[in-house]
Amino acid sequence: MVTFSEISGFAFDLDGVITDTAKFHAMAWQQVAEQVGTKWTSQLADNLKGIDRMTSLEMILKAGGHETEYSDTEKEQLADEKNHNYVNLIKTLTPDDILPGMLDFIQSLHQNHYKLALASVSRNAPVILERLGLTDSFEGIVDPASLKLGKPDPEIYIRAAEVMHLDPDKVIGVEDAAAGVTSINKAGETSLGIGDAKILHEANLIFANTKEVTLQAIKEKMTAN
Ligand code: G6P
Ligand code: MG
Repeated sequence: MVTFSEISGFAFDLDGVITDTAKFHAMAWQQVAEQVGTKWTSQLADNLKGIDRMTSLEMILKAGGHETEYSDTEKEQLADEKNHNYVNLIKTLTPDDILPGMLDFIQSLHQNHYKLALASVSRNAPVILERLGLTDSFEGIVDPASLKLGKPDPEIYIRAAEVMHLDPDKVIGVEDAAAGVTSINKAGETSLGIGDAKILHEANLIFANTKEVTLQAIKEKMTAN
């Protein structure tokens, strides 16, 4: 692993890292799962974290053995329905919904002259950042529409490093999803996972929750490793 002093930038996932929209994605997908007859489980919810909209739908259909039952048009409709419900759920977001410690962490990164980029595959990310009052906190946002492949492919984290004009080995990627951690690792960056250590076991650095993520704690973990 690189040393802490080599790090110059941070690439952030959004859902489940900066704000708890993961629960809203899960609520909206659960409705779709019930509609198509796939049993909704916490494992399925975890597997969908970080996965783009259409791939998530494919995974839900497959989990219940329904993958051949819907035409492309019907799949588009199901995905639109999910997004409609999701967009309604996130209307209530305010700056108070930034996860504990994350605003302080982002501010400390600015004070210490790190670069920041957003690496979310969510097409709703710009609206969410606006609601949280964080639009100006990032050097740049990787446009998910421009990606060939979503997480766990490394493309999005490679692009995040480019947005910051940094080599990947100078970047820490911050994630709550296993697919995202794989993406960061394959991009050649240092992965910081927030959440269940069993699920995020591939991460270079693991924190149980957002509150624990501070520059000092990262430095200590990187030095101890
Ligand atoms: C994030 C979330 C996923 C979601 C994806 C696409 O990665 O973790 O759960 O499916 O974004 O979000 P969107 O807002 O474009 O449907
Ligand atoms: Mg996430």
